[in-house]
Amino acid sequence: MDTDWEQVRSDFPVLQQVVNEESLVYLDNAATSQKPMTVLQSINQFYLHDNANVHRGIHTLAQRATEQYEAVRDQVRQFINATTANEIIFTKGTTDSLNLVASTYGQFIQAGDEIILTIMEHHSNLIAWQQLALQKHATLKYINLTKEQDLDLKDAAQKITDKTKIVAIAHASNVLGVVNPIKTITKLAHQHGAVVVCDGAQAVAHLPVDVQDLDVDFYAFSGHKMLAPTGIGVLYGKQALLKKMPPYQYGGEMISVVNQYDSTWAELPYKFEAGTPNIAGVIGLGKAIDYLNHIEMTNIWRHEQELVQYIFPKLLADPTLTIYGPPSVTKHTGVIAFNLHSLHPHDVATALDQDGVAVRAGHHCAQPLMNALDLKATVRMSLSFYNNWADLDNFLAALKDTKEFFNHELI
Ligand code: ALA
Repeated sequence: MDTDWEQVRSDFPVLQQVVNEESLVYLDNAATSQKPMTVLQSINQFYLHDNANVHRGIHTLAQRATEQYEAVRDQVRQFINATTANEIIFTKGTTDSLNLVASTYGQFIQAGDEIILTIMEHHSNLIAWQQLALQKHATLKYINLTKEQDLDLKDAAQKITDKTKIVAIAHASNVLGVVNPIKTITKLAHQHGAVVVCDGAQAVAHLPVDVQDLDVDFYAFSGHKMLAPTGIGVLYGKQALLKKMPPYQYGGEMISVVNQYDSTWAELPYKFEAGTPNIAGVIGLGKAIDYLNHIEMTNIWRHEQELVQYIFPKLLADPTLTIYGPPSVTKHTGVIAFNLHSLHPHDVATALDQDGVAVRAGHHCAQPLMNALDLKATVRMSLSFYNNWADLDNFLAALKDTKEFFNHELI
C-alpha cells in the first residue's frame, strides 16, 4: 500500500503545535500515543447523540450504545485474530488485564509451583506475579538477558520446567526495544503444561498480532498506546481457560442469578465485566482499530522500521551515547533507550524539552531491569508511524544542543 505519511500525520491535531518556541517532536509514544481526529470525533459523537448505558436499556439510545460497544468487541477479535468475541474482555488497560489474570487464574497456583518472568518485564507484568508468589508460597524465577541484552533462550529452556505453571513475558520491551520470540516461549511453556501470559502493550500498535499464531493463553494491551483514549484496555484469553476462572470483580452485569446467600455468574465475556464499562473508551478503541486497519499493521511495522534504520545507526555511532538493547538495527523496535555520557537522564530530557522534543526519562517502570543493567535510569525516545524524518533530524539537532549546553560536564 502506498501511504501518504504526511497526510497521516496531519490527522493528529496535537502534533501541529509549537512547544518552547519549537515545533513539537513527540517521541514518547511508548508512554502513550496521540489520537487521530476520527477517534476524538467518535467520542464526541457518542456523548452528543448516543450516550446511554449498555446491556440494560430497552430504549433506542441504550440499543445504539450496546450495538456500538459489542461491535468493537468483534473488531478487537478480528484485529488480534481471536477465535470468538467471548475471548475479548474489556478492562481499564494492560495493568488491569494482567491483574485480572493474576487474581483469578492465580487462584489455581499452589505452594511450590513456579512462575517464570523475564527480567525485562514492566512492573505491571511483574508485581502482580511477585505478590501472587508471596501469597501462595510459589517460586518466582526470571529469565535473564544475553550479553547483547536480548532474551536468553538458553536460560529460558533451563528455567521453564514441569514445575512451571505460568510464564509471563512482554511481547516487546518498553526499554530494550526488542521483540521477544513469543512462539518459541509458548511452545516451550506448553511442553511443560504452563500457560503463557503475554504483555502486548508495546507491540500491538506497532506490528501485526495474531494470538492464535502466537498460541499465547492470555494477551493484554491498552487502548491508549494504540491511538484510543486512556482507561480502556483488553484482555484476550483462551475461552477454555476463561471459563474455568472465577470472576475478578463482583457487581452489576457479571451475574446470572443473585440470591440472598449465593449467586451464579454470567457467561463469557460478561463474567469479567462488572459495573458500567468505559463505553466511550470502547467506541474510541473501535475507531482507533479502524484507523490502524486502514493503514495496515504490516505497513506500519515496515514504516517504523525505516525510521529506526535512519536514526539507530546514528545514535550507535555517537561515542557520547550508551545505547541499551541489542546493538543490531534489525532487532530494534522504535523504542531506543540511552544515556548521554554521565548526565542525569532527567537533565537530558529537560534540555531536549527546551527544543520541543518530548522523550521519557527514568526507570520506565522496570526497576529490576535497571538493577540488572546496573543503571538507575535512562532517556528513552520512542517512535510511532506518524513520526517523520524531520522529527528525527530535529531530535538529533536537539541532542547536539543538549551536548553543547552541558559541554563543561562532558569534558
Ligand atoms: N508503560 C509506559 C512506558 O513504558 C507508561 O512509558
